[in-house]
Amino acid sequence: MPSRSAAEIYERVPTQVFPGSAQAAAALAQEVADLIRTKNKAGKPAVLGLATGSTPVPFYRELIRLHKEEKLSFKNVITFNLDEYYGLDASHPESYARFMRDQLFDHIDIPVENINIPSGTVPGDQVFAHCRAYEERIDSAGGIDIQILGIGRTGHIGFNEPGSSRDSLTRRITLDRVTRQDAASDFRGEENVPRFAITMGVGTILRAKKLALMAWGENKAAVVAKALEGPVTEAVSASFLQEHADARFLIDQGAARELTRIKLPWLVGPVSWTPRETRRAVVWQSFHAKRTVLKLTDEDYNEHGLSDLLSEQGPAYQLNIRIFNQLQHTITGWPGGKPDADDTYRPERARPYPKRTLVFSPEPQDAVVGMGGTIDRLVEQGHDVRIVSLTSGSLRVADSEADKFASTLLELASTADTPAAWSHQTDYARDILHILEEKGEFGEDPPKLRRLKGLILRGELRDAAHALGISPDQVVILDLPFYEKGRYRRFKAADDDLAAVKQLLQDFKPHQIYATGDAADPSSVSAITFRLIESALRACEFEEWSSSCSFWVYRGKERPLEPHEIDMAVPMSPVQIERKARALSRYAALSSLEKDAPESNRQNARTYDTLGMAEYEAIESFHRWKRS
Ligand code: F6R
Repeated sequence: MPSRSAAEIYERVPTQVFPGSAQAAAALAQEVADLIRTKNKAGKPAVLGLATGSTPVPFYRELIRLHKEEKLSFKNVITFNLDEYYGLDASHPESYARFMRDQLFDHIDIPVENINIPSGTVPGDQVFAHCRAYEERIDSAGGIDIQILGIGRTGHIGFNEPGSSRDSLTRRITLDRVTRQDAASDFRGEENVPRFAITMGVGTILRAKKLALMAWGENKAAVVAKALEGPVTEAVSASFLQEHADARFLIDQGAARELTRIKLPWLVGPVSWTPRETRRAVVWQSFHAKRTVLKLTDEDYNEHGLSDLLSEQGPAYQLNIRIFNQLQHTITGWPGGKPDADDTYRPERARPYPKRTLVFSPEPQDAVVGMGGTIDRLVEQGHDVRIVSLTSGSLRVADSEADKFASTLLELASTADTPAAWSHQTDYARDILHILEEKGEFGEDPPKLRRLKGLILRGELRDAAHALGISPDQVVILDLPFYEKGRYRRFKAADDDLAAVKQLLQDFKPHQIYATGDAADPSSVSAITFRLIESALRACEFEEWSSSCSFWVYRGKERPLEPHEIDMAVPMSPVQIERKARALSRYAALSSLEKDAPESNRQNARTYDTLGMAEYEAIESFHRWKRS
């Protein structure tokens, strides 16, 4: 473990921040491989405590690689999983037993008898005995050498929801509402997520000799900061790691975002005052002092740890004006550039005009959620806009939608004048209804059903695009293969995905690209497609169109951009926000966050207002992506 720097003084558990989850997972997998080899050399089994969910997926992929390419054997490894949903049997597609087989056990040489996972189907009256036996099995294996952990947004480790005590042991618990919301996409709706689970207790976890907690993406940033910098409390189970002698956090930059050393670096030491960092400090100061940027005083800066910034770039009056102007210059009603205007201080260049603009939407609803108003403006201002849905979005569509379609088709066929002419349609509809019945509520959708669901969403996208003035031939659906083969939180993109995105770019040769998805959760569809777009652009970097193509990042359902991150703010009139809301209403299955997009746009405008900028009804905001 590297020694801790002064910047880390707020963190009460040693924490390593990695550029991305892949690097962190590789480091941890190497450590586990070393542990297995050392223990095996001493003639002992290595005892691993394992977790499920999206977080450990890259870690398991790396363990599998070490097994296949570097002959790491798991013959003498014993595993204990943290938890299992209560009520699901081991073959259920969402059970953790099935997850572990799919993600790890089926790909390595671990003997089945060495695998331990709490049972999700033990009868109610035997739960207590089952849990006690689980504890005893851990002890008789010699205790857990290293426990791998993720963290839920409630701060849970295992399924130890808020309120779990320091000494709790393996037991049945009730899942928190937030945890069930987070699992909703896996189960196609929160109402299908089990209410209970069996989990190792906090006490069980703390008995492990070593603890390694991983967290990726901004969605985890707030709870990671609480667990690391807040008090030890039952309200955040992960905070108990502060009491363990050999615990650590391995996180990526997104998950580190709320740590004091990253968020308020001037409180922990000298800062190199880049333009972005300066803007962040001034904006923070404005919120903190509850005064507009232009009204901040030397005293405001001095009293809040920013005297250093002031001596470098002050006095306050000048610093304020400079940042005010920068913020002012982010605002434009011309996201595609204003033709024939001086564009020195405008976010987008004036020429060429009109522009070829590609708006990438990871799933069919994302672009409208994130930038419906801006699409509306781009179209109105005469640009050649294409909305590209990278995936079919079929996983979002409820069974009931497919059922509705098949039942209507069946009825149409049976009431037609010549039912015989409809025999193909009748067969198709019956087939769909049969598939729905066979697979039940949780079963995986076979390709035929996924195709239908994808088509249903395609229709909704066309409708929504139409509401923004985009004709059907300007809507492209790529149906990337990784999505069709995969499931939420476990997708894996491949070469054919990259080839499809690259081809699209080469065909269209855009002047402007809009995309989303780099930050909130690296396992999300948006993050995966974003990485594909980045790689595809890199592969085209020597093509003429590519060097001058601007790349704007919008936020879909995630946290909106903070003012210091905004490079382009597109104001929306009350009429435009209405039109965006109308376009959104064309989608049958929107999450509450997605439905709230117009409200979040209004909030952006209020934020700009608080800083002392002009008061708009709503704002959509963008970050300029610097290609790596
Ligand atoms: C899973 C587990 C949970 C998860 C946590 C994060 O075995 O114990 O604590 O680690 O809910 O889930 P993901 O990784 O899906 O964000």
